[in-house]
Amino acid sequence: MTDPQTFAQNRPSALARLMAGIAEHAPDTTAGPVDDTPNPDDPGHPEYHRRQRAEFALGRLTNATPYRYRNATTTHPTIQAWADRAAEDIRSAGFLVLNGTIGTGKTHHAYGALRRIAEAGPRRFELIATTAPDMYGRLRPGGSDRGTEYELDRLCRVPLLLLDDLGTEKLSEWTEEATYRLINERYNECLPMIITTNYLVRAAEGTDLVTRLGERLASRIAQAADIVTLNGPDRRRHLGVVA
Ligand SMILES: Nc1ncnc2c1ncn2[C@@H]1O[C@H](COP(=O)(O)OP(=O)(O)OP(=O)(O)O)[C@@H](O)[C@H]1O
Ligand SMILES: [Mg+2]
Repeated sequence: MTDPQTFAQNRPSALARLMAGIAEHAPDTTAGPVDDTPNPDDPGHPEYHRRQRAEFALGRLTNATPYRYRNATTTHPTIQAWADRAAEDIRSAGFLVLNGTIGTGKTHHAYGALRRIAEAGPRRFELIATTAPDMYGRLRPGGSDRGTEYELDRLCRVPLLLLDDLGTEKLSEWTEEATYRLINERYNECLPMIITTNYLVRAAEGTDLVTRLGERLASRIAQAADIVTLNGPDRRRHLGVVA
């Protein structure tokens, strides 16, 4: 017969029996695998922030884009590669020159390149998009409220600049000086710019940018630029597009 002391030691306490009973009937509360995969829709995820920046940049671009080119995209590999570089690091892109005859899509591709940069969601997206004649109009004494030096300084410093239709007008001594200061400053600071022009950078005398802008400028452009020639018919006539 078991002595009372041994019996007391072996007998499960009331508390232990109670705990065993609860454990037997309680639902399994063991934690399963937690899905803590980062979600691109959540703040804090890099993709979430990239999308926010892209939305902001596209808003800015829309404000700066003529209605006709609002949805322009570029499918040209060289232009796409230039835009990707500019989105990644603005100072590594250099200039992009789009040349070709009338209506070949230069302005379309230029805005397409800017759209591609905006869609990438760069950290900073500030741009000026202007035609060369409009730019000269603003730079002219009395052409803007803030004056020539202020306007030229803005054009020199803005991170992204599109200068459409360069060379359309023969440069006077004054416009040549302003163009030289602008392009030279951006060249020195390694700031990108897109230039569209009907002229080839180098071609027969009288038909190239050297003749229109002078040797000093054409030399800087030729060194710093990806040059893309767009060929084909005038799309305005070909597609029956009224410009
Ligand atoms: N890839 C394209 N897809 C659809 N439409 C295009 C494309 N490229 C150009 N277009 C359209 O064709 C017309 C002419 O294009 P754009 O204005 O870009 O030509 P351009 O080369 O800049 O001409 P210009 O030398 O006269 O300035 C425009 O209406 C433009 O919207
Ligand atoms: Mg154009």
